[in-house]
Amino acid sequence: MIDITDKEFDLIKDIMYKRTGVLLKPTKKPLVMTRLRSRLEELHLTRFLDYVPLIEKETGSEMEIFINALTTNETYFFRHTKQFNYFYETILPSIVSKGSSNGFNARIWSGASSSGEEPYSIAMTCREFFKGKSGWKVHLIASDINSEVIGEAKEGIYSERSIKEVPETLKSKYFKPYEGSRNKMWKEFNLDPALKSTVRFVQHNLLKPFAEKDFDVVFLRNVMIYFDSQSKQKVVDNVLASLKPGGYFLISLSESLNDVKTSLKTVSSGIYQK
Ligand SMILES: C[S@@+](CC[C@H](N)C(=O)[O-])C[C@H]1O[C@@H](n2cnc3c(N)ncnc32)[C@H](O)[C@@H]1O
Repeated sequence: MIDITDKEFDLIKDIMYKRTGVLLKPTKKPLVMTRLRSRLEELHLTRFLDYVPLIEKETGSEMEIFINALTTNETYFFRHTKQFNYFYETILPSIVSKGSSNGFNARIWSGASSSGEEPYSIAMTCREFFKGKSGWKVHLIASDINSEVIGEAKEGIYSERSIKEVPETLKSKYFKPYEGSRNKMWKEFNLDPALKSTVRFVQHNLLKPFAEKDFDVVFLRNVMIYFDSQSKQKVVDNVLASLKPGGYFLISLSESLNDVKTSLKTVSSGIYQK
């Protein structure tokens, strides 16, 4: 069994931090070992030290495999339901009230979209909200650094566990039982292809500025928990540069912006306005 030394863990931790902003605390040593061990075996490597040179280059397929293995992608539909209620009851009506000055466009970005549950929950909420409001166009962009979860999001097959918070009316409208058999533990469901096509997925590292600008709303939830204050500041600055003045910024209920300098105004739990 391949073991990891403190020195090897430090080298790997430094590379992960530099590339993603994610800070792996010493308590994560067993997790790093478990998640990378099978990759080392595939490469016929017997020491983590020999893996380090393969991930030192900024780009390349091994860097991608490394990041995919070490990012944590836990998510589910309608996570923090209260925030989706606020989005439906307050944020979307406020966007609509500015209708013509926006050219009847609503631009929304899910900045750490993982396997798609968050952007598709946004898509369902927008579908329901905008029905009957003709002329409106919703541009929904979802991004993540992890290419594997983006692939899963595009596939759009979800477990019963992942959709447990979806209201029944939306469940019957947007999900059909998946006929294949990939997972024996949970029943699986196919997301409605028409809804799926309303979200555009791109790979993006939040440590870099995002090419897309002028968003009315940015969801950046449950990703800053993995960052230290320095990465957080860089990420928040980058994200806010893509948000319109007056636009809304959502973080999760277990995160805070206390250690970050911004001129955002708090409007509700985990919800800010530029
Ligand atoms: C725990 S998931 C959050 C998913 C969803 N936003 C939610 O709240 O349920 C965190 C995601 O952040 C992504 N991530 C971590 N570091 C990132 C970075 N530097 N740039 C972009 N995405 C990153 C991970 O790949 C992961 O999919």
